[in-house]
Amino acid sequence: MKKYQQKNVSDINLEDYLGEYEGRETGRDQAVFTGGRETVSLAGKWNYAVDAYDTCLRQHWFEERYRDARGFSLPVDYSFDTWPEMELPCCWNTQGEKFLLYEGSMVFTRRVPFEKRAGERVYLRIGAANYICRVFVNGQYLGSHRGGSTPAFFDVTDALRAENRFLICVDATRRPEQVPTENTDWFNYGGIYREIDLIRVPEAGIRDFRLSLVPDGSFRHIAVSAALTRPADGEAVLALPALGIRKSIRIRAGRGRAVLTADPELWTPEKPVLYDAELSFGADRVSDRVGFREIRVRGREILLNGKKIFLRGVSCHEDSVKNGKAVTEAECEQAIRDAKGMGCNFMRLAHYPHTEKMARAADRLGILLWEEIPVYWAIRFRKPSTFADAKNQLLELITRDYNRASVIIWSVGNENLDSDERLRFMKRLADTARREDRTRLVSAACLVSAEKNAIADRLAEYLDVIGLNEYYGWYSPDFAKLPELFRNSDPSKPVIITEFGADALYGHHGTAEDKGTVECQAAIYERQIEEIRKIGYVQGMTPWILYDFRCPRRTSFIQLYYNRKGLITEDRKHKKPAYGIMKRFYLEKKKAAGGRT
Ligand code: GCU
Repeated sequence: MKKYQQKNVSDINLEDYLGEYEGRETGRDQAVFTGGRETVSLAGKWNYAVDAYDTCLRQHWFEERYRDARGFSLPVDYSFDTWPEMELPCCWNTQGEKFLLYEGSMVFTRRVPFEKRAGERVYLRIGAANYICRVFVNGQYLGSHRGGSTPAFFDVTDALRAENRFLICVDATRRPEQVPTENTDWFNYGGIYREIDLIRVPEAGIRDFRLSLVPDGSFRHIAVSAALTRPADGEAVLALPALGIRKSIRIRAGRGRAVLTADPELWTPEKPVLYDAELSFGADRVSDRVGFREIRVRGREILLNGKKIFLRGVSCHEDSVKNGKAVTEAECEQAIRDAKGMGCNFMRLAHYPHTEKMARAADRLGILLWEEIPVYWAIRFRKPSTFADAKNQLLELITRDYNRASVIIWSVGNENLDSDERLRFMKRLADTARREDRTRLVSAACLVSAEKNAIADRLAEYLDVIGLNEYYGWYSPDFAKLPELFRNSDPSKPVIITEFGADALYGHHGTAEDKGTVECQAAIYERQIEEIRKIGYVQGMTPWILYDFRCPRRTSFIQLYYNRKGLITEDRKHKKPAYGIMKRFYLEKKKAAGGRT
C-alpha cells in the first residue's frame, strides 16, 4: 500500500488519503467455496463509531499508535473498547431514529481470539456490506471490497495472532460512478448486513465447486467443475450418494471438470428435489444440496425441463420494516409463501443480488428466480472502473449462486436508456454472464421505445429473454397504447413483462380514477391482465411489486417515504385487492397448463 507520509492534518485531502487504500480490491477471484465448511461466526456485538469524515482512514486509527518512536504518549481520537456496541450483521439505519438517514462511513471493531492451525488458510467472509468496506487486522490493511450486495473474501491468515483486533470501515455513500449510482428508487441501507465469518481452508483447498445439468435436452448429463486455491495437481472425488455416484475428477494446475451420466429426478417448483453432493480434494471437503433442471429458450417459448412454462411471477425488493435489507431466513420464506400463495412459480429479485438465503429457500420451497445486478437507470456507462465494478458484482453473484436450481435468469440491468455506450457496456455484461454460465438465460428489464411505442431496445439482440417495464394506466395513463405497443412489436424471443403496477395505500378507497386508491390499483391490474393475456410472445410477468417498500423519493400523503406499489403492505399483514386479481389469473393459467408448473 502506498504509504501516505502524513503531513499536518490540514493538508490531508481526498485524493491523498483514499489513494493509499487503492489497489487492494478483492473480488470474485478471492472467493472460496463455503458449503459444509467449519466457520467461526463473528456475528454479535461490535464496537462502532460514526465516522462522517473518514478520520479513521485519514489518521490511521487502525494502527493504534498510542506512543511515538521515543515512547512519549500520544493523544488519540478514538477508544475502541469503550465505543458503543452494535449487534452485527445489521443495517445501521434500523438501529434507531438517529441512524435512519445516515449514509456516510462507520467504523466497526472487535477483539477476536483465534487458534490458528498449521497448513491452513483463514478467510474472512463478509456476506454483504454496503457499499465499500475496508478491512484491517491487527493494524494491517488487508484490502477493500466494492459493491453493496455481494460477498467479500479476505485472506487474513498471515495477519492473525492468538488475540486479534478486527476493524472494518464501511462507507455507504452513494456516488454517480458506483453501481447503482447516487439515484435509485429504493432505500440506501448502510452497514455490514449479512454474515461475517472466519472460514478455515486447507492450504490447497476448494475455491469453487459447480454442479449442474448439461442443457443438452437429455436431462442425464451432469457437469461438475472444481477450482482450487492453489495451482495444485491431484484427484478430487465427487459423491452424489442418492444417485449412486462416486466420481474421480483429475485436477491439473488447480482446475478440473467432468461430465457424468445419471438419472436424477428433475427439480421443478412443484417438486423441488434436492440431492446431497460432496466434493473432496486431499484434506478438504465441501458439500451442497443441489437440484437438477434445465432452462432453455425455443423460439418465443421458455422451456423448463423441455416443457413450455409461463413464468407466473412477481417482483420483490430485499426490504423489511424491522430489518431493512438484512432480511432473515423467515422473511425470505414468508416472501416465497406469499408469492406462491398468489399462484406464482417465479420471482424477480430486484434490483441487486438478494441474500443467498433467498435462493436456498427458493431451492427448498420450489420457486424460480430472476437475479439481477444493480445496473440501474443512469449508470456511468463510459467509465471503465464502473464497468469493472458491475462485472465483478455479476461474477460474484454467479459464483455464489451457481448451484441454485431455482435461479434461471441473470439480469444485467434495469431501465437504462438506449445509447451506444450503454449498449456496449451491457452487451459486454451479457457476454460475461453467458461465458461464465451456459446453464441459465440472460436478460434485462428494458424500457419501451417511446418514439415507436414498441419493444425496440437494441440490447434485446444480446438477451435470451427480453424483460420489459411498462406502466400503462399509471405513468403512461393512456391504456390504449398498451395493445398498440404489442401490435407494434414483433420480438423473435420470449418477453417477460418485468414491471407494471400502481401505487395504492391499503385502506385508501375511491373510484378506479382516483390515483393512490386500492380501487385504482385493482382496475389497472385488471386492464393489464386483459391485454397481456392475449399476447403469445409474452411468456411471463413479474408485476411491480410484492410488498410496499421504503423509498426516499416517495413523499405524498399516501406514501410517506414508501413506494406503495406493493400488492401487500410493508408490514406484510394486509393484501390489497390487486393481490386477489393476480391470484385469480395465475391459478387460471396454472389450470390451463394442466396444473403443472
Ligand atoms: C421503475 C423501476 C422501479 C421503480 C418503479 C416505480 O420501473 O424499475 O425500481 O420502483 O418503476 O416507479 O415504482
